[in-house]
Amino acid sequence: MNQDTRGRLTRDGIRIYDQADFAGMHKAGELAARILDEVADQIFVGQTTGAIDAFIERRVEEENAISATIGYKGYKHASCISVNHVVCHGIPGDKKLKDGDILNIDVTVIVDGWYGDTSRMYVAGKLARKSERLIQVTHDSLMKGIEAVRPGNTFGDIGHAIQSYVEAQRMSVVRDFCGHGLGRVFHAPPNVLHYGRPGTAAVLEEGMFFTIEPMVNLGRPETKVLSDDWTAVTRDKSLSAQFEHSVGVTADGCEIFTLSPGGRFHPTYQT
Ligand code: MF3
Ligand code: CO
Ligand code: CO
Repeated sequence: MNQDTRGRLTRDGIRIYDQADFAGMHKAGELAARILDEVADQIFVGQTTGAIDAFIERRVEEENAISATIGYKGYKHASCISVNHVVCHGIPGDKKLKDGDILNIDVTVIVDGWYGDTSRMYVAGKLARKSERLIQVTHDSLMKGIEAVRPGNTFGDIGHAIQSYVEAQRMSVVRDFCGHGLGRVFHAPPNVLHYGRPGTAAVLEEGMFFTIEPMVNLGRPETKVLSDDWTAVTRDKSLSAQFEHSVGVTADGCEIFTLSPGGRFHPTYQT
């Protein structure tokens, strides 16, 4: 039965999973992260985003897993690949990567009915200094958000940790997209905002599963969606970066389901 009927729902409609459910999430998250580790070798100047996506689709199949994105609301690809000023939901295609391009690759797989959702940043060729800073700040903002995950804290605490860190670096947090609950469905309550005030929104409880996936822009936070109905870009054309982990709340903090087996989650250019 591939739907969320396990455990119980909180007053805010957030599902509380059992201890045993963590194992399923770890298996799905690990596969998504392992595929992103392998993808690093596919990134080079002249490579097309379509070829990268084809590699991901093949690897998901070889592992007898299911791509959560193929067929999702009409989406046709095994990944979203968002280059430079694309904020998220970039559609893979025949565009070639150029020297200095930065890109987010977002993969969601289903293993035994459990969803593993993660994304990280890559670079083709030589990384510019301002891109490196953006990528570092975005990565670190996700980790600040994750540090705020523990029972008794609120979703506002997570958003505040991310927003205050990013804005202190004079960068901006995208408001138009958010993280989400997941488990045996792709997107479930709550909306995990990457901005907010301490102590606001729902209280975290052990057994909640959700993603944190901040998008950070060098310029202003506003986005627009292109006529393909998917590709979200920064309105001011400034560079954007994103990192995403799937996590589960434990008694005293959280477990990250999508840790990189190869230690390649942190900007790959430094590994
Ligand atoms: N993986 C994305 C997320 O983090 C969702 C992609 S949906 C798609 O929620 F259809 F665009 F692939
Ligand atoms: Co997600
Ligand atoms: Co994702």
